[in-house]
Amino acid sequence: MLTEPEILDHSCIRAMNITKTFGQTKAINGLTVDISCGSRVALLGPNGAGKSTVLKLLVGLMKPDFGEITIGGYPADSSMEAKKLLGYLPEDATPYISLTVKENLQYVGAIRGVRDLDSRIEYLVSELGLQDFLSTKILKVSRGTRQKVSVAMSIIHSPKIVLMDEPLNYLDIPSQENVIQMLSQMNSTFLISTHIMSIAERLTDDVIIIARGQEIWKGKRNELRSLGHSDEPVEAIVSRMMKNVR
Ligand SMILES: Nc1ncnc2c1ncn2[C@@H]1O[C@H](COP(=O)(O)OP(=O)(O)O)[C@@H](O)[C@H]1O
Ligand SMILES: [Mg+2]
Repeated sequence: MLTEPEILDHSCIRAMNITKTFGQTKAINGLTVDISCGSRVALLGPNGAGKSTVLKLLVGLMKPDFGEITIGGYPADSSMEAKKLLGYLPEDATPYISLTVKENLQYVGAIRGVRDLDSRIEYLVSELGLQDFLSTKILKVSRGTRQKVSVAMSIIHSPKIVLMDEPLNYLDIPSQENVIQMLSQMNSTFLISTHIMSIAERLTDDVIIIARGQEIWKGKRNELRSLGHSDEPVEAIVSRMMKNVR
């Protein structure tokens, strides 16, 4: 990899009191996120809660109207250091459609300055079961295969800080398992947005729940479970909490 920036803060992801408005819609409303390096955090919330917007703000694709965001201690929207530290999987990510699976991985790997790129590609392809599609153009592969290629592209440079927006979308159960196994082996700081509680259960230790752009609960995943009855699904606990948000 190209020279890696040093992380300057014990908080790998920090957003202080951020607000983002689209026209009349307050997508994010005074949200603070403070994630220590090494944590694995799920960002849970219903559709429209603001999850994708938070991630776009954290990667510096948009600026908040108010509030400060730093990644590893560097300003999210204006520093190369923050960009080098990050791996980001957007919602509805699409690789370059006229390139093959392998060409996409080679291209983004080269831009990211990955050392030993061939063996890195070999590892990702084998973990994700992409062997049969290496020479196929993205245009011709299934939505699930596109998602797997997008996941591989987002982490090809072994980023220290990984932000993923609904990473298991479009994947069948065996592919979900492959992705979960692969991500579990990484030593990175994770923030993973999802509306599916079982993903949080498998991949993360901490949970932030947002609704209408505001935090409604934060804590350890086991504590979330202990807030409900013993046989109550976690989804039910979360939806009960969300009903109380006005
Ligand atoms: N680019 C945009 N323009 C206008 N409204 C937007 C835009 N992006 C998001 N929103 C609105 O902001 C709110 C939060 O959206 P989003 O972050 O996509 O939620 P989630 O990812 O939790 O489903 C929604 O009301 C959505 O309609
Ligand atoms: Mg979203």
